[in-house]
Amino acid sequence: MEKKIFKTNAELHNWLSEQNSAIIFIPTMGALHPGHQYLIRKAKESIIKTKQLVIVSIFINPLQFGKDEDFTKYPKNINKDAELAFTAGADAIWAPDYFEVFPGGENSHFKINVPQVLQNQLCGETRKGHFDGVATVILRLIKIIQPKTLILGEKDWQQLIIIRKLFEELSIPIKIESYSTQRDPSGFAYSSRNSYLSDSERVNAQSLPNAIKEAKTAFYKEKRINLKKIASILKENSLKIEYLKIVDPFSLKEKENINGLCLLAAAVKCGSTRLIDHAFLMERKPIIAIDGPAGAGKSTVTKALAKRLGFIYLDTGAMYRAVTWLMICNSIDPSDQSEIKNILKDSTLEFKSSSFVEQRIFINNVDVTEKIRSPKVTSMVSEIAKQKFVRELLTQRQQVIGSNGGLVAEGRDIGTAVFPDADVKIFLTASPTERAKRRALDLNKRGYKFSSIEGLEQEIKERDKKDSEREIAPLKKAHDAIELITDGMNIEDVLQELIYIFKSKIPEEVWPTPNQ
Ligand code: CDP
Repeated sequence: MEKKIFKTNAELHNWLSEQNSAIIFIPTMGALHPGHQYLIRKAKESIIKTKQLVIVSIFINPLQFGKDEDFTKYPKNINKDAELAFTAGADAIWAPDYFEVFPGGENSHFKINVPQVLQNQLCGETRKGHFDGVATVILRLIKIIQPKTLILGEKDWQQLIIIRKLFEELSIPIKIESYSTQRDPSGFAYSSRNSYLSDSERVNAQSLPNAIKEAKTAFYKEKRINLKKIASILKENSLKIEYLKIVDPFSLKEKENINGLCLLAAAVKCGSTRLIDHAFLMERKPIIAIDGPAGAGKSTVTKALAKRLGFIYLDTGAMYRAVTWLMICNSIDPSDQSEIKNILKDSTLEFKSSSFVEQRIFINNVDVTEKIRSPKVTSMVSEIAKQKFVRELLTQRQQVIGSNGGLVAEGRDIGTAVFPDADVKIFLTASPTERAKRRALDLNKRGYKFSSIEGLEQEIKERDKKDSEREIAPLKKAHDAIELITDGMNIEDVLQELIYIFKSKIPEEVWPTPNQ
């Protein structure tokens, strides 16, 4: 395809109207470097089946520069940019002028006020109004381009989370994908502003990524970050610190203790050039909690997600079902706590897996994988699952399995009780009718008889009620879980959505997710 560079909206739209393709959009201010090229390459790789076009914009947005900042001297070289963008796989470049983006001038358009809690942190502390300018222009750009996906770099992390929040609050149905900071062989993050550095400044500036990298390496040994040490290294190299902090990556609030995903972020002045860099800190691999009512399709998608990420798959429902099976075999009254305790205290319960999909569950060395799906077990499981001793025992075993992370667990109380600090929490649900239909298909496949779909719907509602009303760890959406209603979605749709949510919570720098 011929490489296209458009300067006006009219030219761009003319061309787009002939293409009939969804658009992946990468906004830039030009002065492209390998970091931008990486985003373009990733965009190209993400195109799976349908035809999509990768459009890169080059627009130096005056609204995001403070009055003493470098707007007038910001590097410009459209020919070089075009070459880099097309080499990386861009289908078109859109390089509009100010009035194409802001017809009638910026005051003829809505302006975004980024909430103070996000605006006044990190870069916003010194760059007043910067993020208002970024958010305002992004809305203009997407209005003109109308992309399906927007791609942003993780290097400007604060910008990324502000734009995510903006899209979420305005319910803008555009997916935002983000990719990790690219660095030269010395570890120095690519940035358009690096070209401002003189040779001697460049030598000093190297201490920024070096100190952050060293701190990150020390963190994995000592479990702490010595901010004072980083600060003194930066000062020794004549870098003036604007901020150097450990924050929660989503609220941007400063953190005292490093638990869960944290962001070590810094901005410095090297001469008159402002540089930013960061590292994510995480003690263990990610944990994903998927909760939801009966028959929401959790097992299938949880398994598929675990396989895609190379994580352990933990079906906690199977554990409650296995215990229930044991109680039925021993004719134990579900309300007899002491008998349940007696039988369980010396029991073994283990998963053995030859592959992610073929996981088998054993109780007291009996393979009960199929047996636990019987209608008899299903009808009794909620009664057993509400017993205190059963819950304590199984919760503790689940926590041991997940202690190093790298796990996708499904159940009713994963995000609330078992792993309240899970990095990704999803509440997967569907209408009772849809769930009854899915359950009927599943029972048919397993060769079990059932009265009617209406009967199954009734049974599902009763089980949901019991699970939601029990005293200990009831079924409920965690306050920080994302609800996904899966009516009308097929398995692949749900899986894609889960991967999207995972990527929005876990930066690529922490855990790269395969595209396919
Ligand atoms: O029937 P479905 O596959 O949706 O459920 P399951 O995941 O096999 O779980 C069966 C039952 O175990 C639930 O109805 C709950 O009573 C109980 N359970 C629980 O109490 N806590 C969990 N974390 C998982 C399951």
